[in-house]
Amino acid sequence: MCTSRNARIALVCTWVASTLLACPAFVVMGTESNMYYNNSTSVVVVLCADIGVTNQDRLVYALWKLVSLFVVPTAILLYCYARVIAILWLSTQQLQTMTSPSR
Ligand SMILES: *[C@@H]1O[C@H](CO)[C@@H](O)[C@H](O)[C@H]1NC(C)=O
Ligand SMILES: *[C@@H]1O[C@H](CO)[C@@H](O)[C@H](O)[C@H]1NC(C)=O
Repeated sequence: MCTSRNARIALVCTWVASTLLACPAFVVMGTESNMYYNNSTSVVVVLCADIGVTNQDRLVYALWKLVSLFVVPTAILLYCYARVIAILWLSTQQLQTMTSPSR
């Protein structure tokens, strides 16, 4: 599995997937200008936030980000680390059995 061709494919897939996952921000994010003033001066503050869609869709977007940026990557990481730990643990056990002086 660890060939340079597969590594290149994985690299391209990673970039394509991360670009696609970031695309909803083009629709959801928006800017809002607020003007603050007193008698002598005024200042315009531009706010960039997820205000391009309705409140209902903002909730959907927040849940989408939670799942795609946190829950799924964390689950994949936990699975991979658990497998690595299990394989290392088993090989350590095997090594101890094979090098044990009592046999
Ligand atoms: C208006 O705001 C500016 C900037 O904060 C401040 O320097 C100024 O004293 C304020 N003027 C008045 C009349 O409150
Ligand atoms: C701001 O302007 C209003 C109307 O000109 C005036 O009544 C008020 O006292 C002013 N306030 C300050 C803090 O200068």
